[in-house]
Amino acid sequence: MTASKTWVKVARVDDIDPSVPYLVELNNRAVALYHTHGIVYATDDTCSHAEASLCEGEYRGYIVTCPRHGGQFDIRNGQAVKMPAIAPIDVFAVRVEDGDVFLSPEDM
Ligand code: FES
Repeated sequence: MTASKTWVKVARVDDIDPSVPYLVELNNRAVALYHTHGIVYATDDTCSHAEASLCEGEYRGYIVTCPRHGGQFDIRNGQAVKMPAIAPIDVFAVRVEDGDVFLSPEDM
């Protein structure tokens, strides 16, 4: 049996803009939240290409665009889908309860 995770409330679903990632921090790690197609996703805020904040960019559907050089990532799996981004970013499990968004510090 798997030990259950600890979850920490980091935001409300309503806090998350439908086109601009919402920045939260947990365990000193900057995390970008997205709300698309009725589901909340979480990824690293920092672009894997050159240290830009993805929360200063925009997302449409499942694709977030880095504000610095235009690299893009799929927020469902962190895969880079447009150059110059090549390396993936981390994605994190999200739990939503009664409009509250939770992340697990154990994932950070
Ligand atoms: S810093 Fe994000 S694509 Fe270059």
